[in-house]
Amino acid sequence: MAEINTFSTAEELAYSAAHWFVTLAQQVLAEQGTFRVALAGGSTPRALYTLLATEQFAAHIDWQHVSIFWGDERCVASDHAESNYRMAYETLLAHVPIPTDNIHRMQGELEPDQAAERYETVLRSHIAPQPNTSQVGLDLILLGMGDDGHTASLFPGTTALQEQQRWVVPNFVEKLGVWRITLTPVFINNATNILFFVAGANKAERLRQVLHAPYQPDVLPSQIIKPRHGHLVWMVDTAAASRLS
Ligand code: 6PG
Repeated sequence: MAEINTFSTAEELAYSAAHWFVTLAQQVLAEQGTFRVALAGGSTPRALYTLLATEQFAAHIDWQHVSIFWGDERCVASDHAESNYRMAYETLLAHVPIPTDNIHRMQGELEPDQAAERYETVLRSHIAPQPNTSQVGLDLILLGMGDDGHTASLFPGTTALQEQQRWVVPNFVEKLGVWRITLTPVFINNATNILFFVAGANKAERLRQVLHAPYQPDVLPSQIIKPRHGHLVWMVDTAAASRLS
């Protein structure tokens, strides 16, 4: 059963998530000496990333040993308004002392197949099995949820939902008429910690379905996120949670 934490406002949600992020980062850095995290795109995480960049939070993370990845990317250049990399760079990464070599951008400007292959190579070169298990995954993956139930770029009815081997795939999203690059469910579910971060009344009905409706990941892709060995946490505001019993 996933852990669901509800917060009265989007601001309180962002503050609590920032505290949670720092606490986890400190714990993992103390245990492993590195903290490898995949960031979510979209708009909801902006508030969280902006807070993490402030002295109140940034000063408590040893950024020299943090490695940043992405859960998905749009097939655009890194300076495009739609770029998930650009959003995270502008709100967080430009403001903290993280080595540029520790920032691993999905190259959305490349052909989708090539971008996915290259990113899988990057991931495989940076992720060794955890010392105490054969677990091969990230320490934390941040995820948002769209009002259609998608997460990362795992959209309803798309082929990426069926991938069983690869960690990163190109994914054509019919309803948007665009290609995306996305981590696959099989890789996401290898993570030690997964945080879903959801805000807004427009997500309420879909969140209720994802959490309480029968398992149908092709329709509700966020349901496919079930970490094999890791810990799944939802942090949502009361508006998004308004349809939950
Ligand atoms: C993306 C994101 C995507 C996002 C959801 C929710 O590239 O858009 O990775 O999965 O998390 O679409 O987006 P909002 O937070 O903007 O509602």
